[in-house]
Amino acid sequence: MTMDQLKRQAAARALEEVRDGMQLGLGTGSTAKHFVELLGERVAAGLKVIGVPTSEATRADAERCGVKLTTLDEIDHLDLTIDGADEIDPELNLIKGGGGALLREKIVAAASDRMIVIADDSKWVPTLGKFPLPIEVIPFGLGATRRAIEKAFAECGVSGQMAVRKAKGGDKDGHVFVTDGGHWIVDAQLGRITDPPGLAKALSAIPGVVEHGLFIGFASSAVLAGGGGIRVIER
Ligand code: 5RP
Repeated sequence: MTMDQLKRQAAARALEEVRDGMQLGLGTGSTAKHFVELLGERVAAGLKVIGVPTSEATRADAERCGVKLTTLDEIDHLDLTIDGADEIDPELNLIKGGGGALLREKIVAAASDRMIVIADDSKWVPTLGKFPLPIEVIPFGLGATRRAIEKAFAECGVSGQMAVRKAKGGDKDGHVFVTDGGHWIVDAQLGRITDPPGLAKALSAIPGVVEHGLFIGFASSAVLAGGGGIRVIER
């Protein structure tokens, strides 16, 4: 089975948790896109749900698939968010933001009663950090912010190269990647994050950091699709 088929399987399993009338957070990325497409098929067959998209890309996908959308200004909570991840550890701590949507993804996850993470099982890791940690920053004063981030890394026992993310493909190819919120992303190659909650707290305290890709305590469960079938891990 291809990676893409595994992603779709994970999305299909998470769809079983969706009930009529639910208010849903809709994640970003190739796995979340499968979920939105499958949800659209259920909506066409009569399911009534409303969604809050975590990116402009997901907004476009949901509109194309006929999924009704709202905002967190119009509703006061979400029942369930379904989103992908770049890495998932056994505590269900996550690295997210490979697609650059971490800020809206975290706002939506925080407003949600439950979050199901969907992924192919290559995302399951014993320790977070092999995937570069995305850190969303304000362009102003970036030098000072980078120095503060390096200090936070040292205090948390990690170190590694940082690079401002560049856009890939399209007419923005090679230019600085700009998030939906108008910010930049610094990707940090840390290798091994031994204290994800400690690092998350230290990064959140830096003024130029808008948000970071460590999702601690957000995921209620993970649906992992692999060659041997589907595994559901509950927190
Ligand atoms: C986007 C994300 C994605 O959920 C993450 O990058 C996983 O993407 P994919 O499902 O394409 O592997 O955090 O910001």
